[in-house]
Amino acid sequence: MIYLDNAATSWPKPEVVIEAVERALRAPASPGRSGHRPAHEASRTVHRARKGVARLLGVGDPERVAFAPNVTWAVNEALWGLGLGPGDRVLSGALEHNSTARPLRLLEARGVAWEAVPPGPDGLLDPEEFRRRLTPETRLVVLNHASNVTGALAPAKAVKDAVGGVPVLLDTAQTAGAVPLDDLGGWADLVCFTGHKGLLGPTGTGGLYVREGVPFRPLAVGGSGSRSESLEHPDFLPDALEAGTQNTHGLAGLAAACDFLLGTGVGRIRAHELELAEIFMEGALKAPGLAILGPGPGDPRRVATVSVVLEGVSSSDLARSLEEGYGIMTRAGLHCAPLTHQAAGSFPGGATRFSFGFFNTREEAETAGRALREIAGRPRRGGA
Ligand SMILES: Cc1ncc(COP(=O)(O)O)c(C=O)c1O
Repeated sequence: MIYLDNAATSWPKPEVVIEAVERALRAPASPGRSGHRPAHEASRTVHRARKGVARLLGVGDPERVAFAPNVTWAVNEALWGLGLGPGDRVLSGALEHNSTARPLRLLEARGVAWEAVPPGPDGLLDPEEFRRRLTPETRLVVLNHASNVTGALAPAKAVKDAVGGVPVLLDTAQTAGAVPLDDLGGWADLVCFTGHKGLLGPTGTGGLYVREGVPFRPLAVGGSGSRSESLEHPDFLPDALEAGTQNTHGLAGLAAACDFLLGTGVGRIRAHELELAEIFMEGALKAPGLAILGPGPGDPRRVATVSVVLEGVSSSDLARSLEEGYGIMTRAGLHCAPLTHQAAGSFPGGATRFSFGFFNTREEAETAGRALREIAGRPRRGGA
């Protein structure tokens, strides 16, 4: 099998992650609750995950990182915390995943104006377009830090500079662990992450960083292990946003994954993944009738997620041919990102997405390019 679906979830997980999950599952402990030794040990592990994520996001204070089941929950919670209502306005990129687009649509139904800023012909967002659309009612800018379809990186810091004091919410699902993010704490207001993609952790882990001074409000309240004498839910981070027992074994895996990433170096991971994307794109573009969505070869303003459209072949037929003929796992369709496909001109048919991870090899990238050339060279009879 050649697994090229790392944008959906990374695979394989480092062995240390699997071991950490298993160890935590065997331990008799609920973190932050009981006072016995294994419970303290579990609390320390959760704190290690918090510190690791804070370092990888470059946000400074780990106590301002609250865990959640995934980035989708985190985005919903971050938006809820801002208390947006009728008369308020939100700007986003048009490269959003449904995990932000659908909550924004819901807010729209409740009277919040939402404008999605389209990318330029190169598939990239222009910070000046955000500045131009700014009004006194603009309360928030939402950005997918890297498109899960085209791989295009958002010029996030430049957008923040362009919009001044307006808070920026970043969806780092495709950048955390894959792109060095050492400076987010200096300017990003709300940073949402998921643990199971570039962070190389288990599913069921994610969360958000809330910058000092940015309002937050829990989507759920309940047991927190702190202030147990009170019926009021804690109002301090991270407890305020972490009602209920933690995903202890998931977070143990995430802690191990963060150690792995910090030990390996995210810069090294990015360099390797970009090299694979380059090899793949160079090879794929030799296939007749093939187009790449978003930044092409030689453009570093991307992550290693590359979606292609092959003339005369549906995205799902292409994915099936890749799997059946070559054992290559990709993802076809709209990738939960209809707005992106609309902007890229690949709606409603979608595209076939190849997403490279740290454990992929040059040979695999070459094989994927060759497979596309061979499939493109076959006679078309309505399918691949
Ligand atoms: C850019 C982006 N945002 C959000 C998500 C949602 O992630 P999760 O399902 O972990 O919440 C994904 C992945 O599916 C994504 O690629």
